[in-house]
Amino acid sequence: MKLTDRIIVALDNMNEEEVCTFLDKSKQTYKTVKIGLELFYLLGPDFVKKIHHQYGVDIFLDLKLHDIPNTVSKAIRSLRNLPVKFLTVHLTGGKNMLSEALEEAKHSLPDTKLLGVSFLTSLGAHDFKEIYNFKETEVKATFSNLFKLALQTNIHGVVLSPLELDIVKNEEKLIGKKLIKVTPGIRFADEINSNHIQDQQRIATPEMAIQKGADFLVMGRSITQGMRTF
Ligand code: C5P
Repeated sequence: MKLTDRIIVALDNMNEEEVCTFLDKSKQTYKTVKIGLELFYLLGPDFVKKIHHQYGVDIFLDLKLHDIPNTVSKAIRSLRNLPVKFLTVHLTGGKNMLSEALEEAKHSLPDTKLLGVSFLTSLGAHDFKEIYNFKETEVKATFSNLFKLALQTNIHGVVLSPLELDIVKNEEKLIGKKLIKVTPGIRFADEINSNHIQDQQRIATPEMAIQKGADFLVMGRSITQGMRTF
């Protein structure tokens, strides 16, 4: 698969008109775009259908669902038959939530792959200490547990920082199963060198993430604001 087919462009910080202008120019280059909370809250399911049909791109719907099992499963039912290739839920919602989400998705979104978000790539060691009182060493063990949990369910993939790819690959080997691995927190080498990484913390270049085993890379501002292409 060529590198650009592995890029999922995050359509953040844009209004509807700006999204259309961006896609008019780049729909030939990128196959998949990510619609997140910002655009979904503003423009809803019709916008998802419009972008998919008008530009022929696959949709990664990044709703990061995280609630009790019944609420998450009913939320998925409300998305019934939307043309969505990937949908995200938080792994920290726990096994019951993930199982019910998967069960509902089988009926309501049979062609959609469910991805479990581990921890946000904007969180660093200081945040883990502040929120969970984790020591540096405990962060790794917690990631391992989360990926173990993902592997024990039938979830199709995980969203993780490129720095955790080694941990998930280790767990995959132990359990003998593979997940789709999607990594946000991607910046071009010159952006990292000049510390132009905005709110992201656990980051890597596209080449490093692919080399470490990522199947897909989520890239937003580096492409949409930097106006960079591959
Ligand atoms: O602009 P940038 O490349 O930082 O955008 C990253 C995108 O990936 C954002 O849309 C953000 O919501 C998403 N994301 C993330 N970290 C996660 C999961 C999703 O940055 N763990």
